[in-house]
Amino acid sequence: MTNILCIGAGYVGGPTMAVIAKHCPQHRVVVVDINEEKIAAWQSDQLPIYEPGLREIVFNIRGKNLFFSTEINRNIAEADIIFVSVNTPTKTFGQGAGRAADLQYWEKTARQILENSTTPKIVVEKSTLPVRTAEAMERILNFNDKGLHFDVISNPEFLAEGTAIQNMENPDRVLVGGRETPSGQEAVQTIVDIFEQWVPRERIITTNLWSSELSKLAANAFLAQRISSINAIANLCEKTEADVTEVAHAVGTDSRIGPQFLRASVGFGGSCFKKDILNLVYLCEYYGLPEVAEYWSQVVTMNEYQKANFVSRMVTALFNSVAGKRIALFGVAFKANTSDTRESPALTVCRGLLEEQAHVVITDPYALDNARASLSDVAEQVSFEPDPYAAAEDAHAIAVLTGWPQFAELDYETIHVNMIQPSFIFDGRNILDHKKLYEIGFNVYAIGKPPRTHFTN
Ligand code: NAD
Ligand code: UGA
Repeated sequence: MTNILCIGAGYVGGPTMAVIAKHCPQHRVVVVDINEEKIAAWQSDQLPIYEPGLREIVFNIRGKNLFFSTEINRNIAEADIIFVSVNTPTKTFGQGAGRAADLQYWEKTARQILENSTTPKIVVEKSTLPVRTAEAMERILNFNDKGLHFDVISNPEFLAEGTAIQNMENPDRVLVGGRETPSGQEAVQTIVDIFEQWVPRERIITTNLWSSELSKLAANAFLAQRISSINAIANLCEKTEADVTEVAHAVGTDSRIGPQFLRASVGFGGSCFKKDILNLVYLCEYYGLPEVAEYWSQVVTMNEYQKANFVSRMVTALFNSVAGKRIALFGVAFKANTSDTRESPALTVCRGLLEEQAHVVITDPYALDNARASLSDVAEQVSFEPDPYAAAEDAHAIAVLTGWPQFAELDYETIHVNMIQPSFIFDGRNILDHKKLYEIGFNVYAIGKPPRTHFTN
């Protein structure tokens, strides 16, 4: 039996360790966190995150070979392999503020591992980190007078929220990077052995440490770049009567380009894309590559523009003023099938509308608690309403900001009757039937499409 520990019981630590424990009944997997409430939730019937398929796995193996605990030091001492999956936010102060990764928690974790270790261990970087972080980690861990050797491995996570279990169960690839020394290669093999329990060997890629660290940042940058690229084209569509869905289809059917991640939207959100690209930008600057930094920086700039432009399009369409108007936001999660609201474009749109003195009502099937917390500073100006019909009642406009499929299934005839006329729908995810909505009587604005309005001039 191998004792596997994961430090950090968040969106990555929880689901990844649940899947590892499920497929490796011969190993004991413990997930620890400094957040006592979160651990209590992992131990309860109400898991701290919503992820399709997660409950079933956790409820099945919790207490057998999957454990959640706040006893970090004791579990470090007992572990053979330690995955570190703590958060790595953007630095808010000093050198690199607003771009570089804040690694203070990371370093503290390395020191805590060293302090509590009496046996050699494999330490796995699961968090997304700047390239060459493993070097600092190795130096801290191996500069010890205990005679202990630590191997540091990079095993970045590629799961997307909302499909975490599916992505873990059937990954496109698993990446394991390590040192090219005998002990480094042995450590790589130990991690490969875990994933090989359910992932075909040809999908497990092994590289050197730095390629592995950088591949994670590069993959996120490429994905976000596709969204910014199609959103840039969507802006041009809105001016030229081209339709971005048709353009994306025509472009994406080229097998060299591919169809995925070409859905134009109000902008990308989530805890990682912006943070990781800014981190990449900082690294490029740090290594004296300002042109490369500027190239990637544009992906974020385009995304900020997309969100701001959505608000401005709304205000313009609503006769240049939303002051005092009730506006219903359909969705506040950063994407469908998650309760996560981190960096959600809906929050930016909400704040933009509040600045224009609108009265904002937010509805979402799973994310209202997180939204309340994220918007606590403006709580008096926002209402939260679980029922979309009630949210839209007496509203001048609806803005669809999360692609929850249930929003496409609503009875828009009933919604329309109960709204202030003329009524507007702004579809920031292009999930609604725009023609039908227009026929019901709505004025319809979608991303990258000409507006359908009932006004003759
Ligand atoms: P998260 O905030 O959900 O979870 C991180 C957890 O670490 C928190 O519960 C926090 O309390 C805990 N923590 C922080 N410092 C700690 C310490 N010293 N000891 C014990 N626990 C500590 O973050 P996340 O979304 O799981 O992301 C973790 C990392 O994985 C980040 O680097 C992120 O970029 C990366 N990542 C995230 C996703 C995703 O979909 N969220 C996907 C791939 C990679
Ligand atoms: C993303 C990556 O997809 C994962 O591979 C990666 O592991 C993860 O970041 C991470 O490092 O944290 P995630 O942020 O969970 O996963 O969700 P995505 O599905 O990538 O969506 C990100 C944002 O882009 C969402 O706001 C989504 O609505 C938006 N999006 C996505 C679009 O606007 N258009 C698209 O075509 C696709």
